[in-house]
Amino acid sequence: MNYLAIVGTNSDVSTNRMLLQFMQKHFSSEAEIELYEIKDLPAFMEPEDSDIPDKVAELSDKILKADGVIIATPEYDHAIPAVLKSALEWISYTSQSLTDKPVLIVGASHGALGSSRAQAHLRQILDSPELAARIMPSSEFLLGKSQGAFDSTGNLIYSDKVLELDEIFREFVLFTDITTELLAKKMLNKKAKKFSWQD
Ligand SMILES: Cc1cc2nc3c(=O)[nH]c(=O)nc-3n(C[C@H](O)[C@H](O)[C@H](O)COP(=O)(O)O)c2cc1C
Repeated sequence: MNYLAIVGTNSDVSTNRMLLQFMQKHFSSEAEIELYEIKDLPAFMEPEDSDIPDKVAELSDKILKADGVIIATPEYDHAIPAVLKSALEWISYTSQSLTDKPVLIVGASHGALGSSRAQAHLRQILDSPELAARIMPSSEFLLGKSQGAFDSTGNLIYSDKVLELDEIFREFVLFTDITTELLAKKMLNKKAKKFSWQD
């Protein structure tokens, strides 16, 4: 499997980035996980012409080529950070490359709840018609107290959380396979027209 792992923040120091770096290393025998930084994307605005910023085109292309996407989100004021929402708005407005893409949501926060409200928010956003991702159901990976969660070599030191992550990730690999099969069967019927608010 090839997964694109989106770091849902523009902070230089981020426990969500550390979580994805840990997953990249920990699951290296099962999947290739490429980390993607959204901090260089411009803030979303409806372009006057059809020009798409290079960074947006790059992200779209990487999403299209990946078997699935992992998104790690912090929680800001009970929601996802604006920079992550902006990145998703670019995808929704341009390539819609998240449509039908298997997505796993994970997240870390300094408090006890592990970005639970932001993750619920993200799930709702990804379910909108112009994004329409295939979000892995019945799964949440909530890493609370994330500032104390990693040792100096980047390993996740909460052993119960490592076991939980193992189970969720292996299920996501299966979910990716099953979704691919489902979509192949769906394609045999009729290809649905892409949704657009602009029509
Ligand atoms: C503007 C702002 C708002 C925040 N709001 C919340 C919040 O609503 N809930 C929460 O658990 N943590 C909140 N936090 C603390 C976050 O847990 C923490 O900054 C972030 O999620 C950790 O992610 P990171 O280490 O990847 O930056 C907030 C932090 C900032 C800077």
